[in-house]
Amino acid sequence: MITIQGLTKAFGSKVITRALDLSVERHEFLAIIGRSGEGKSVLLKQMIGLINPDSGSVKINGEEITNVRGKQRKNIFRTCGYVFQFAALLDSLNVLENIGLPLTEDGKDAKTIQPLIIEKLQSVGLAADVLYKYPDELSGGMKKRVGLARTLMLSPQVLLYDEPTTGLDPITVRLIHELMKKTHDEQKATTIVISHDVEIFKFATHVAMLHEGKIIYKGLAKDIWECANPYVYQFIRGLPEGPITPIGFV
Ligand SMILES: Nc1ncnc2c1ncn2[C@@H]1O[C@H](COP(=O)(O)OP(=O)(O)O)[C@@H](O)[C@H]1O
Ligand SMILES: [Mg+2]
Repeated sequence: MITIQGLTKAFGSKVITRALDLSVERHEFLAIIGRSGEGKSVLLKQMIGLINPDSGSVKINGEEITNVRGKQRKNIFRTCGYVFQFAALLDSLNVLENIGLPLTEDGKDAKTIQPLIIEKLQSVGLAADVLYKYPDELSGGMKKRVGLARTLMLSPQVLLYDEPTTGLDPITVRLIHELMKKTHDEQKATTIVISHDVEIFKFATHVAMLHEGKIIYKGLAKDIWECANPYVYQFIRGLPEGPITPIGFV
């Protein structure tokens, strides 16, 4: 479904992804782990053309998506749904308008898409009475669900989540994970999630680790606690001792 080859991106002299290779099969549920500041968000953004790499290739469904513009670019956004780190709702729009945005932007009439909005709202477990609320009236977990409902409006084949559970309480984290899994199965999607939450391994099929600009490990999620790779071993247990030093610490 996704084939990344030789992906290199630097900001100034700082190289973020270094000739990175990664393949993701159709219907995989891949969790990407790695240090804060390692470049996970930059990698995810390169997967959907929000950031163009300096060199290398990203293919989705066999189609090259780097350095494309216009209509082609729009099609990528239709195939791939991106759920932003902080839900990225527009504060001046209510829930109904936020969820409808991908279609109203396309010129669709707000009234005619309302049934679809309500369907998506239900599929993320929200009641219809939130439709006329504004983002600052919602809890963190509700915002994430509204963000997901908006992404689902275009029925994407690929779902990308950037730290969907950061800042949420453990019960809400669990519910968001279950919702991601349900959405993955229902949409027959390919899911990629950046997460620091080890609970995600119960829901993912695969885990990949980004370190120093490369995917240094990829394996099955069900085996992750037996993984002997010293980087993975240290990281998922949060051990201070080992080959990894947090970025910015000496
Ligand atoms: N648009 C940008 N311009 C310059 N530097 C950036 C930009 N986006 C990210 N970076 C830098 O790239 C590095 C990796 O960032 P990021 O992908 O957000 O890390 P992660 O998501 O793994 O925590 C950071 O040092 C960050 O400051
Ligand atoms: Mg990030």
